Amino acid sequence: MSRIYLDNAATTPLDNVVLDAMMPYLTEHFGNASSIHSFGRASRIAIEKSRKEIAQIMNARPGEIFFTSCGTESTNTVLHSAVRDLGCKHIITSPIEHHATLHTAEFLASLGLCKVSKVNLTQDGHIDYVDLERLLAESNEQTIVTLMHANNEIGNITDIQYVGDLCKKYNALFHSDTVQTIAHYKFDLEKLPVDFLSGSAHKFNGPKGSGILFIRSGIQIKPFIHGGSQERNMRSGTENIANIVGFAKALEIATLHYEEDKVYIQSLKNAMIEQLMAQIPSIQFHGDISDKSLYTVLNACFPLNNKTEMLSINLDVAGIAVSGGSACSSGAQGGSHVIKSVYPHQTSVPIRFSFSKHNTFEEIDLVVKKIVDLLN
Ligand SMILES: Cc1ncc(COP(=O)(O)O)c(C=O)c1O
Repeated sequence: MSRIYLDNAATTPLDNVVLDAMMPYLTEHFGNASSIHSFGRASRIAIEKSRKEIAQIMNARPGEIFFTSCGTESTNTVLHSAVRDLGCKHIITSPIEHHATLHTAEFLASLGLCKVSKVNLTQDGHIDYVDLERLLAESNEQTIVTLMHANNEIGNITDIQYVGDLCKKYNALFHSDTVQTIAHYKFDLEKLPVDFLSGSAHKFNGPKGSGILFIRSGIQIKPFIHGGSQERNMRSGTENIANIVGFAKALEIATLHYEEDKVYIQSLKNAMIEQLMAQIPSIQFHGDISDKSLYTVLNACFPLNNKTEMLSINLDVAGIAVSGGSACSSGAQGGSHVIKSVYPHQTSVPIRFSFSKHNTFEEIDLVVKKIVDLLN
């Protein structure tokens, strides 16, 4: 049996067309973009063309897009600079952010540079916007809010337009980790009230180790990585031209058909929900599975027992890749910080299925059948 990949929120395979676009920059166009000779100029042109294309798709200015090594680096840059350069003494975030955000915020707080507040969540894991407004209203120091657009584990989507408006009302900066949503949703950065965004190409069939950081024009920060002053002195280090070209190409391909892809992938997710509910009456889902949820992510909640505990491993043995599976209960070792934060009293086995346009309905049928076999 050929293998089935339902872990697209972890990473995605490189698209062949993206690889073709990258290949010349791994071979004949190897010049250092800082060199002024023709080899260097070819690389420089490729970088600036990529920047322009990305900016155009996201309706930003080319000067607002900076290339980084990954989403994690982008988020580290934002939080460090906010505290160091922009006078932020208060970071407001949520308990279910990616560790790129949480560990960075906690590190900055451990140095005594700022305090960190975590906004309350609703029962199904959404941001409690009333609590967010309370935190903002009570904050009497310069504040940055960092909230992800969509949660990578449970799929919940935050209304970043609303959060951005709130931040403006209280004169706070706003960063959003959009690693799971760039190339999956349309962005109009001219209108969206965000100051910073983090993105990562490997979540949409681009290369690993290729990130972007959007910085709203007018915001002046110092570099996070010092050295040769690349990226207009915002991010030193010889540019990874192939990965930059790969980011732009992957974004271009993803956005060509994203309305159709979205409808198709959502229907795969719906089929999975329906079949799991029909075949496993005890099944529940983590997070909100309505339209305020990523169409690529479904987090199923299996009651803990000796069969469900081994489910993800046994699926792997059967050639089916999913994520999660470690039992999580209050007090248990390990488990997901996201599930623990939203469901502190629950003992369950979370399994995350994450879909792409390359998955098929036949694969969904096979996976559900295999799960039923393994549980019986
Ligand atoms: C929501 C979210 N933020 C940040 C990251 C980190 O991105 P990268 O792998 O590019 O460092 C990931 C990827 O795992 C993610 O899902």
